[in-house]
Amino acid sequence: MEKLIIKGGTRLSGEVVISGAKNAAIAILPATLLIDGVCTIENLPNISDVQIQCKILEELGAKIDWITSNSARIDTTNILSYKAPLDMTSKFRASYYFIGSLLGRCHNAETGLPGGCKLGARPIDQHIKGFEALGATVDVANGKIVASANKLTGSSIYMDTVSVGATINVMLSAVLAEGTTTIDNAAKEPHIVDVANFLNTMGADIRGAGTDIIKVNGVKSLKGGATYSVVPDQIEAGTFMLAAIASKGDITIKNCISEHLDCLTAKILEMGGNVEESGDEIRVWCDKRPQKTNIKTAPYPGFPTDLQAQMGVVLSIAEGTSIISENIWESRFQYTYELNKMGANITAQGKTAFFEGVESLSGAPVCATDLRAGAALIIAGIIANGTTELYNLEHIDRGYENIEMKFRNLGANIVRIRE
Ligand code: EPZ
Repeated sequence: MEKLIIKGGTRLSGEVVISGAKNAAIAILPATLLIDGVCTIENLPNISDVQIQCKILEELGAKIDWITSNSARIDTTNILSYKAPLDMTSKFRASYYFIGSLLGRCHNAETGLPGGCKLGARPIDQHIKGFEALGATVDVANGKIVASANKLTGSSIYMDTVSVGATINVMLSAVLAEGTTTIDNAAKEPHIVDVANFLNTMGADIRGAGTDIIKVNGVKSLKGGATYSVVPDQIEAGTFMLAAIASKGDITIKNCISEHLDCLTAKILEMGGNVEESGDEIRVWCDKRPQKTNIKTAPYPGFPTDLQAQMGVVLSIAEGTSIISENIWESRFQYTYELNKMGANITAQGKTAFFEGVESLSGAPVCATDLRAGAALIIAGIIANGTTELYNLEHIDRGYENIEMKFRNLGANIVRIRE
């Protein structure tokens, strides 16, 4: 088993380069199945979710040549099966994108029910609603999702809930459908825009991604033949911005799109931090204890739920009492129990958590309860007095490339050891 040993008391400073966005990459890779040809994808983050997605693609018949550890040439001319391996697809959440892309390409799809971070029920009713509106029949039984359609016909779909996954999945299944599909009440995250841009680069006709209404005009085929670079990861960038505030440090985040982080920047300024944007760089620094603030997570462009835990670390040592309302997931406060082991004073009740700011945290053995909680606990270990041991690193490795090296380059005393 692996663990991180973090010796705390560090003020982080220096530069960090942001990797490609996990939540864009793990939708773009299944989307390559819609291409009857070859494409090249650059700026892929080197993380385990990407590696699993590529293994599934190869199981389905794709040929993948890695040009570097972050770019690959993918040939999906010959897709031999529409059945994604159940053992692999149940390992993580984004496996559900194989349903939309295989349904779009083969008019058939079979995958395991998705896994992923334990954040609550994580239903897929809106995905199924979209597939059925296009003419597919979908059965969910025995841990499998089986979808099939004689043909897929464009339709108008209103999303009952703003859903990143369902918006992307319906987009994938509509690209090669006959006629126009309208997705109303669509999610607007940067990774949705990135998937649409990728598909349009390969010959699709998708309009309005990033707004509430997305129109997909079905095309006969996607020939590919182009190269696409994955958008920088706004959540990784936000993680380092909050690490700068928590550690009273000074970090320049490179290769990021500052507009994607406007909500976080506003909250950092509210807490007394400083932010300077210039081109694809954001400098964040703070030389005093952050002030309290209140957070309500919401779909983009609201405060991202995927930065909630990292913000929780800042609020745990902020001046005063802060409140976080988690409005996306039923159960995303498990990390607060780990922070309380480090001396924080947090009371989590249902969708609300109350943070009584303390002067400082103390190192302790803690466990990552999900991907973003893991990143948050690394920040907590870096600012705590004493030593922190962090377990369950597999959660973190799913979504952050070389995270301990990036923090070490900013001055953190952090090593990974195998027990
Ligand atoms: C994506 O999950 C991300 N994962 C999550 O990031 C992120 O927290 C979430 O979007 C919200 O931004 C990936 O992109 C792989 P949703 P997803 O569908 O698509 C409800 C991370 O840390 N809902 O937008 O599963 C759902 O229960 C991960 O990178 C339905 O009710 O999220 C939730 O309350 C964690 N029915 C809300 O919508 C559905 O059919 C938003 O879920 C689908 C969703």
